Amino acid sequence: MNKIFTILLVLSLAFSANAAGDAKHPKQLKWSFDGIAGKFDRPSIQRGFQVYKEVCAACHSVSKLSFRNLAGAGFSEAEIKALAAGYTIQDGPNDDGEMFDRPGLASDKIPSPYPNKKAAQAANGGSYPPDLSLIVKARHDGANYLFSLLTGYGNTQPKNHEVPEGKYYNPYFPNGNIGMPNPLSADQVTYQDGTKASVEQMSKDLVNFLQFAAEPEMEERKQMGLKVILFLFVFTAFFYVAKCRIWAKLGQ
Ligand code: HEC
Repeated sequence: MNKIFTILLVLSLAFSANAAGDAKHPKQLKWSFDGIAGKFDRPSIQRGFQVYKEVCAACHSVSKLSFRNLAGAGFSEAEIKALAAGYTIQDGPNDDGEMFDRPGLASDKIPSPYPNKKAAQAANGGSYPPDLSLIVKARHDGANYLFSLLTGYGNTQPKNHEVPEGKYYNPYFPNGNIGMPNPLSADQVTYQDGTKASVEQMSKDLVNFLQFAAEPEMEERKQMGLKVILFLFVFTAFFYVAKCRIWAKLGQ
């Protein structure tokens, strides 16, 4: 009896896990940051930041990033200062105990669109637009998932699939119904470097930007890894030679 119960429990768990995760498998792309020698594509990160700022920032924060972190994406100090100064930051309290507004500084965090989670939900029909700083790490196969999600609108839904009021069909989102309307359309932004702003291009640039946001120190980490491997190689050879010499003497 107990065995049957266990089997049923395991089966029901397996099915419920499947029901929650029946999203389409993400498209598999090649990224410059892949692999042990992966590097950032800085022009793309800068374009991605522009799309984030002009489109996504209406609803999503990247609260882990300060303006000065953008130096790692190739922005100059003057560009960062000018960018930060374009924002108004609430600071304080001053000597009179009052909060005051001032222009942003390079050391400020990039401001969030909503004061708190409840306000964000209230403005988005109950769905919460998550902070995007770590989203690439927080989702399985994050870079490919993000690209697929952003380019995954406009698919026709299967006949037996219902989309509730206030949700949008996207086959890459678990259960297919997402509370985010399609945020991207072609030529929504004008890139300064002349790159054509197709939905695919903007999505790729956003992935590069959000990958950078999630791990700005990635290049140093990978380079250090390569150095450590090289070091271990050299030392293995060194100890191997030492071992041969020692045992050669003992064998005489
Ligand atoms: C009009 C507001 C709005 C805009 C603009 C917007 N989003 Fe969203 N986004 C949402 C909401 C609401 C959710 C939560 C959806 C849900 O949980 O069903 C969400 C969810 C997400 C998720 C999480 C999906 C998951 O797996 O949980 C990602 C990633 C995302 N948005 C990326 C973006 C990017 C990138 C942009 C800019 C191109 C953008 N969003 C623009 C409202 C918005």
